[in-house]
Amino acid sequence: MASHYKILVLPGDGVGPEVISVGTQVLSQVAVLYGFEVEFEEGLVGGASIDAYGRPLTDPVLKLAKESHAVLLGAMGGPKWDGLDYSIRPERALLALRQELGLFANLRPVKLFSALAEASTLRREVVEGTDLLVVRELTGGIYFGQPKGITRLPDGTERGVNTEVYTTAEIERIARTAFEAARKRRRKVTSVDKANVLEATELWRKVVARIHRENGYGDVQLEHMLVDNCAMQLIRNPKQFDVIVTTNMFGDILSDEAAMLTGSIGMLPSASLGGQVGTCPEQSRGMYEPVHGSAPDIAGRDMANPLATILSVALMLRHSLDQGEAADQLEMAVEEVLNGGYRTRDIQEKGCRLVGCKEMGRLVGEKIKGDK
Ligand code: IPM
Ligand code: MG
Repeated sequence: MASHYKILVLPGDGVGPEVISVGTQVLSQVAVLYGFEVEFEEGLVGGASIDAYGRPLTDPVLKLAKESHAVLLGAMGGPKWDGLDYSIRPERALLALRQELGLFANLRPVKLFSALAEASTLRREVVEGTDLLVVRELTGGIYFGQPKGITRLPDGTERGVNTEVYTTAEIERIARTAFEAARKRRRKVTSVDKANVLEATELWRKVVARIHRENGYGDVQLEHMLVDNCAMQLIRNPKQFDVIVTTNMFGDILSDEAAMLTGSIGMLPSASLGGQVGTCPEQSRGMYEPVHGSAPDIAGRDMANPLATILSVALMLRHSLDQGEAADQLEMAVEEVLNGGYRTRDIQEKGCRLVGCKEMGRLVGEKIKGDK
C-alpha cells in the first residue's frame, strides 16, 4: 500500500472553496490518524479559471490531474458565466476532466442517515432504510455523442442536435462495475433504460443481460426497469433498490431525484472512477466531488453543508487511497455528529443545533477515530 498520495484540489466556484477547505482539513486529520501522507496541489477550474485564463480548464491543471492519485473537486459555475458560449462554459471543465481522465463510472451512494429521516420532503416510513447506489455511465451517451450542435436552416430557423450513442464495450465495462459493486452490497442490480423506445438502450439492455449471464454474475440478481417507471419507484418505494446502473443522462436525472431521499442534495457524495471498483490504487484513480452545485446564493457566507464533500473524501479513501478502514471511520464520524443533533441550514429541523460549514467540519474532525 502506498503511503504517500498526491491529491489535486480543485475548489472551483461558489460554495466550492468553502466545502473543499473543510474536505482537505478532514483528509489531513485522517492522514495523521492513519499514518499516511497527503500532498495537496491546488488548481483553478470552472469560472475561476475562466476569469484567470479565459478557459474553464487549462492544460497544466489537466496534467496535474493525470499525475495525481485522486482529484477533489468542489463545484463549478454561477450566474456570472451563464452568458458564455457553450464551448467555454464552466461545466465544460467537468466534462473534459471526466473524458480526459477516462472516468467512465460515476458512483453516487444514496444512503439516509437515520437522524435525517425527518429532513426529507418524503414521509419517514418511505425514506427510512434507504441505502442504494447509482452507478452512472459518465463518458458516453448523449453527453458526448456525435453529431451535436446547433445549425441554421435555410428558412433562418435553427436545429439543435444531440445524439445518444452506446457501444458494446462501453456498456460491458459499466455493467461489470455495477455487478462488482453489488457483490459488496445486497447483490441486486436494477439496469435502467428506455428500451421500449430508444435503440441505444435496447442495446444497453441486451449487453447488460449478456454480461450478467456469461460472466458468472449468477449470484447477483438482475432486473431491468424503464426509466420513467424507475423515477416513480424511487419515491414510491426506494428500499427496493440496491444498485441502479444507467446511462449518463438518466443517471444525472435519477441521482438528483434520489438525493432528496437523503434529506438534502447537500448530503450526496460522488466518485468518478476509471478502473474497476475495489482494485489496486493505480487502477482506480478517481475524481471525488459533492453532487450539489456551486449555490451562488449562499456562497461566502459559511452556510453550505460540507457533509457531501466529507463523504466524498471517504469515497476517495476507499476507492483511490486503499484506506477502507479510515473511510468507514469517517462515515461513522459524520453519523455521530448528526446523531448529536448538529445541522447545517439545508437539513435544519426543530430542536437541532444550527451550525455553519466550518463548524460542521470541525465537529466531524473531532469525532474521527484512528486505528491506533
Ligand atoms: C452532475 C452535474 C453535471 C452533469 C453538470 C454540471 C455538467 O449535473 O454532475 O450531475 O450533468 O453531469
Ligand atoms: Mg446532475
